[in-house]
This record gives sequence, C-alpha cells and structure tokens, in this order.
Amino acid sequence: MGAGLATSEWWEQYYRQQHDTYWDWYLPNEIVVRTILDEARAQCGGARGDAEEDEDDQEAGGSDEEQEASSAASSNAAAAAASPAQSASSASASSADSESRLAHLPCLQLGCGNSEVTADLWEAGLRSMRNVDFSVECIERMRVLQRSKGWRCADQSEAEAAAADAATPTSGGVVAAPASPLPATWPLFEAMDVRSLRYPSSSFSLVFDKGTLDCVVLESADSVASARAMLREVHRVLRPGGASVCFSLYPPPARARFWIDVLAEDEGGESQQEKDELCEVLQADNPPAIIQTAAWQSIRMVALDCSPLELPNQAHTYLYIAIKR
Ligand SMILES: C[S@@+](CC[C@H](N)C(=O)[O-])C[C@H]1O[C@@H](n2cnc3c(N)ncnc32)[C@H](O)[C@@H]1O
Repeated sequence: MGAGLATSEWWEQYYRQQHDTYWDWYLPNEIVVRTILDEARAQCGGARGDAEEDEDDQEAGGSDEEQEASSAASSNAAAAAASPAQSASSASASSADSESRLAHLPCLQLGCGNSEVTADLWEAGLRSMRNVDFSVECIERMRVLQRSKGWRCADQSEAEAAAADAATPTSGGVVAAPASPLPATWPLFEAMDVRSLRYPSSSFSLVFDKGTLDCVVLESADSVASARAMLREVHRVLRPGGASVCFSLYPPPARARFWIDVLAEDEGGESQQEKDELCEVLQADNPPAIIQTAAWQSIRMVALDCSPLELPNQAHTYLYIAIKR
C-alpha cells in the first residue's frame, strides 16, 4: 500500500471513480463473514464455530464454565432423545432467541468502504450494525447501494439523530452507555473518522475492521499516534467483554503493539518497559498466539492460511481478536 492511501482526499477521489458496485479488499467474503459471525455468536453467549472451539479446547483445556455448558448440552441431548416433539419446539424457540440476540447485538464496522461484507452480515442476521468511513462519497454510495436492495437506509440527519438518541450525557460530560443503543431496523452508514468516534463509551459488543487499521497506520507522519488513537477509540466504545476484530496484512510484531498500547500507565495500563517486553515476546521464534494485558482479557493473533487478494505471494493474512476487560 502506498502512503497516499491514508488520506481522506485519496479515498474521496477513489470512491468518486468507483461505479455503483461492491469491492472487497484482502479476503473472500465468506471467510470474513464466518469469522465475524462466530465472534458475534460468542458475544450472544453461543459457541464459536467447531474449528475454533476445538482450538480453544486444546489451548485452555476447557474452563469450569465451559465444562458446565458442555455437560448442560449433553443433558439437553438426553432430553431431546426422550421427547422429540418437545425438543423440536424448544429447539425452534431457542433458535428464534439466538436470532433475536444476533439481530440486536450492537456492532460497528470501521472503514466500511464499499465492502459487500456489510450486506452479507445484514442478511446473516446482524441487524444492529453501524458502518463508518471518513469518505463522505463512500457513505453516500453505500446508502444508494443498500437502498437498491430494498432496504431502508438512514440518511445523515437520521443517523445523527439516532446517534444523539443513543448518547445520554451525564452532568460531568461523561457519556453513559445507552440501554439499547440502536434501532434494529436499518443499516446505518455514517461519515466519521475512526480516530474520534461520535459514540458513547461502552456502546458496542463487536467492533471490526478489514484494512482500516492498515490505512490509518499509513495516515500521517505520526502513524503510531494515529493507530493508537484508533485503538483507544475501539477500546472506549466496546463494552467490557466486547470484541475487537481486525483483518490486517501485517503480522503481530507490526500490529499487536497497537492493542498493547491502548492504556497509558496512569490509566491502569502497563509501564512502557512492560509494553516493550510484551512486544519483544512477539518477535521470538515461537511467539505466543494469545497475550493478556491490563486492557484486554486476551489478544488472539491468527495467521490465516489465506493469501491477501492483493498479495498472492504472501502466505498469510492476519486476524486479531481482542476481548476487552
Ligand atoms: C483498504 S479500505 C477497506 C475497505 C473495506 N473495509 C473492505 O475491506 O473492503 C480502507 C477503508 O478505510 C477508510 N479509512 C481510512 N482511514 C480512515 C479513518 N481515519 N477514518 C475512517 N475511515 C478511514 C477508507 O476510506 C477506506 O474505505
């Protein structure tokens, strides 16, 4: 990627030249959609996909809660065997319940571009999703594209009104988390810089990006400060337990430091020396796949066995999943 990709002027120009169609960076959509849905289901209290579950079991040996959940699942299976009709109706009730949870899960996509992932996730049931990009042209085009699918899309003033409804400032100027931050009725597209989000703290259960952190890093002479600002915003708008999901071209030594760096020492974060030590560990021959910090219960780093679409000679695209404390 060239440094020009970082500026809003470059992106405005880029989207002006795009025809009214979708374009996706880095990965085939099905991989991205599956990963995000897995994380969304985990946020709703469900299980992740089988492959990841197996991986987690191997990593952790299974917590007490997981073992309880799995023994509850076995007794559910036993009950199903005893009464098929009852179990069919309770299965459809629980599937309706999990669909409803998915529909109401507050999610935010950063730097949505004209990616089709937004539409695919909407169709897969994520109905409380906000999408931001700093290119006004891009946001306008996405509204037109989504409307062409027969969906209602809020215009900027409606989006801003919904954002204002969601925000409940307290007297100290601190914005409280809304009880129900979003109307689960339409996808919202808003022009916004990911380094200064106009959302209350603790608003979202899932915040994701594909390629946006990589662009922000290229943004300015002070790329580290820019990326840190973005990740601090991600951390702020996530509720405790919420997930930050990011697809990147770059491996952990080049990217994980931005999650490690979100909290300053006087905010309860690690000292600079401790942060540097964590970053050094990631450069070792066999680096850990998961690390923990004061800000994150876990930062999971995965080298996907999939070349980025733009770089067929690179073996991996990288996935970062961080769970906020
Ligand atoms: C590489 S594209 C990825 C687009 C889309 N996520 C995808 O995967 O197809 C990066 C996107 O991030 C947006 N972007 C870059 N810096 C941004 C910033 N500081 N705030 C908001 N959006 C930004 C760009 O406008 C662009 O749409």
